[in-house]
Amino acid sequence: MISPLHPTGLDRSALRLRYLGNRNRSAELFAMLDPSVYYERPIALRNPIVFYEGHLPAFSFNTLVRKALGGASIDAEFERLFERGIDPASLDQAGRLARDAWPEHRRVQAFGAACDAAVLQALAHADLEDGNASALLERGQAAYTILEHEEMHHETLLYMFHRVSLHKKRARGRAGAYVEREALATGRVTIPAGDATLGAARDGIEFGWDNEFEETRLPVGAFEIDVNDVTNRDWLEFVRDGGPVAPFWVERDGAYRLLGMFEEMPLPLTWPVYVSGAQARAYAAWRGARLPTEAEYHRAAFGTPSGEERAFPWGDSPPTSKWGNFDFRRFDPEPVGTNPASASAWGVHDLIGNGWEWTATVFEPLPGFRPMASYPQYSVDFFDGEHFIVKGASPVTNRNHVRRSFRNWYRAEYPYVYATFRTVND
Ligand code: AVJ
Ligand code: FE
Repeated sequence: MISPLHPTGLDRSALRLRYLGNRNRSAELFAMLDPSVYYERPIALRNPIVFYEGHLPAFSFNTLVRKALGGASIDAEFERLFERGIDPASLDQAGRLARDAWPEHRRVQAFGAACDAAVLQALAHADLEDGNASALLERGQAAYTILEHEEMHHETLLYMFHRVSLHKKRARGRAGAYVEREALATGRVTIPAGDATLGAARDGIEFGWDNEFEETRLPVGAFEIDVNDVTNRDWLEFVRDGGPVAPFWVERDGAYRLLGMFEEMPLPLTWPVYVSGAQARAYAAWRGARLPTEAEYHRAAFGTPSGEERAFPWGDSPPTSKWGNFDFRRFDPEPVGTNPASASAWGVHDLIGNGWEWTATVFEPLPGFRPMASYPQYSVDFFDGEHFIVKGASPVTNRNHVRRSFRNWYRAEYPYVYATFRTVND
């Protein structure tokens, strides 16, 4: 192959297809819901559903067309209204951010269609990589930002739709989620001391969010780690000893059941338990253990006995859902240890997929951090000591976000997310 003198540039048709695929997935997700819930707030700390239908195209239009390329407004009021979501610390604060009236469904859709037309036009014809014209265009940053932003919101939408009454949502062609299977591997493994590489070099990846830079090597002491995530069965012991009921559990006639995305089912004892970070920490302490740090997660997931680090726990093959429960393989978890071929070099299972993994690490910048031009507040607003890193992926995390440097974060007390955990000791 002849290597070009200049980078070949972004593949416009791939970007366009990805944008259209994302818009289709968004439309399918909204179509799962009964129209009567459109103005509801399934999570009291978040905006109502209508906001998200406007937010996705508005963010893409604002970022790529208006800010990066200097295009004209379509509807200044809607562009502002749908610009950003909220992450209040309390219901009180959520109440202060709430507004009385949201626009009509068809007006939001018409605005979205106009945004889409402008974005598609830009993806087809504009210079998307002219870093001299705008810092937002460096390395095609704005184009990637809008794509990953919408993909991330698919997950945000789903954990929000999880809280919509079961009789007000449905998905076509979906099989029942309930399944039990005992894991083959159990217990813990010891991971010897070694280095972990967090983040990425700016030239190392096609696109990364600002919090993924710079590449940072950290020494990690030896530790022991659970080979599987903590299950509902494990959590039941904690509840019987006074621990909190997990947020996805429901109690019926004295027995616990699980609230799945589309059905309520017997509590699947072999599935990872989804809990808040604070609850995960309490469980670990109750067991005389603790949560792994972000660097320990990296050692367990990507480290090898030879000291080399892998791109993924299973090696270097691209991340598709054949490797684990992510990229919409299911809407709900599956039994722990279902994908032995994707265990890490140390035999630790499900490090990618089947639920994000809580860490003990506060969300903070890596050395060399710079806010990104295309979304300067993306991370900075959350460097407040109250948000913690989660790593890995959930069943509904897009495979495009399965990369070693990707760092996700949530408030420690936030109970709605698809996040599980495992415990460690020195
Ligand atoms: C990175 C998933 C925590 O959903 O709050 C979407 C992503 N930021 N729009 C979130 C995000 C702005 C963010 N997380
Ligand atoms: Fe957003």
